[in-house]
Amino acid sequence: MTKKENTYILPEELARQNEIIQRINRNNENEYNSSGKKKFARIITYGCQQNNSDSEKLKGILKNMGYNQTDDNEKADVILFNTCCVRENAELKLYGNIGALKNLKLSRPELIIGVCGCMMQQKHAVEMIKKKYRHVDLIFGTHNIYKFPEIFEKAFHEKCTLVDIMDCEGVIVENLPVDREEKHKAWVTIMYGCNNFCSYCIVPYVRGRERSRKPENVVDEIYKLAEGGCKEVTLLGQNVNSYGKDLGINIDFADLLYKVNEIEGIERIRFMTSHPKDLSDKLILAIKECNKVCEHLHLPFQAGSNKILKSMNRVYTKEEYLEKVSKVKKAMPNIALTTDIIVGFPGESAIDFEETLDVVRKVRFDQAFTFIYSKREGTPAARMENQIREDEKHKNFDRLIEVQNQISRNINEGYRGNVYEVLVDGPSKTNKDILTGRTRTGKIINFEGKDTNIGDLVNVKVTGVFSWSLHGELIENIKSQS
Ligand code: 5AD
Ligand code: SF4
Repeated sequence: MTKKENTYILPEELARQNEIIQRINRNNENEYNSSGKKKFARIITYGCQQNNSDSEKLKGILKNMGYNQTDDNEKADVILFNTCCVRENAELKLYGNIGALKNLKLSRPELIIGVCGCMMQQKHAVEMIKKKYRHVDLIFGTHNIYKFPEIFEKAFHEKCTLVDIMDCEGVIVENLPVDREEKHKAWVTIMYGCNNFCSYCIVPYVRGRERSRKPENVVDEIYKLAEGGCKEVTLLGQNVNSYGKDLGINIDFADLLYKVNEIEGIERIRFMTSHPKDLSDKLILAIKECNKVCEHLHLPFQAGSNKILKSMNRVYTKEEYLEKVSKVKKAMPNIALTTDIIVGFPGESAIDFEETLDVVRKVRFDQAFTFIYSKREGTPAARMENQIREDEKHKNFDRLIEVQNQISRNINEGYRGNVYEVLVDGPSKTNKDILTGRTRTGKIINFEGKDTNIGDLVNVKVTGVFSWSLHGELIENIKSQS
């Protein structure tokens, strides 16, 4: 593959977009002054953390245009769907939700409905929306979020659905406005795209090739976050372990971790996702040596059978994966390990599936994110002949969950009675009298405790244990959010 240069969106182009933002903001202000009516926008996000991070940028742009956030369709002047196409169920949900807005659009034609994100990088999905969901006003993709102000402004004057998809794969945009929901923790994208082309996965086709942000831009963003009171950052990329390969300046992910570890005010560093093939000894050492890097590694293995791994184009064997895991465990015996597993990949026999269970039992993951294989148009696996029957996939899927839940619970049982540092996320969603947060190992812990605030670091004693979370009581506050 020939290497393409990264394209940086020029400050002049961003300034042009910013002028449009200001213009829309002035219009909204004028309208408010004459009618007293505030403007609202709703963004509905599907899929992974990268999409959430993109939505935070769209929220930042909309905020600067004078739109307040709402969760209420009836109140919204703008509704944006940020889509995911990694699995079919997310796509089906999207079509259902767009369809449900038809009557609202008929009753309020001035409502702007937009669709963006990964799914829109696929021609067939765009065609489907244009044909069947004509009440959609605008469509854009993953590479041109920076251009949203211009597309949005044009859509006001268009009768048909406005489509603006960029095929350019090498774009990096710095300095877009961001509206983050939480102050005490933040997602920071360090690289975009993926070069791995796992045979089941649509991501490389819709997110383009790997391109890393310059380390100084990443570090600068995290410095600013720390100044604003952020305690925890999660470094994001489809495969953060290959960070820097495209920069040509002799820096890798381990080097970046050491740099971020130096930033005062940041207490915790997390990262995801890691491809096992790029998990080097140097990186294992960096995770161990950097005191702020949390004791948690998310290392997807996808399948246990070497035949299936080969067919998935994962470029490691079961034995190599287990070897990497034992290196990690040897270096950091208390590290929590989580993983992604796909059940029912084409050609997966009962014996192959047993190999997956074998890895699960040998590694003893703290948690596994399990997925039923979903055929994605345009990927090599979708063209494979030996697709597995749905009932077979579901039978194995249920068995896998049962095995994993038992392991998760047994591991969590080992937390009982001990005290752990917890970063407080706030009141629990289901019970406002209970606080919730995470241990450094990434476990969700709900606990009783007064006089703590979001962003405090506290010590909590574990008193109850479940497969997916812990329960505890507050012992002391270590560091209050300043
Ligand atoms: N079907 C099922 N699961 C998939 N994933 C990616 N593509 C597919 C697919 N076509 C899963 C992988 C990946 C996670 C983010 O989603 O396990 O690690
Ligand atoms: Fe998809 Fe594989 Fe890239 Fe992950 S590493 S985004 S599974 S192609």
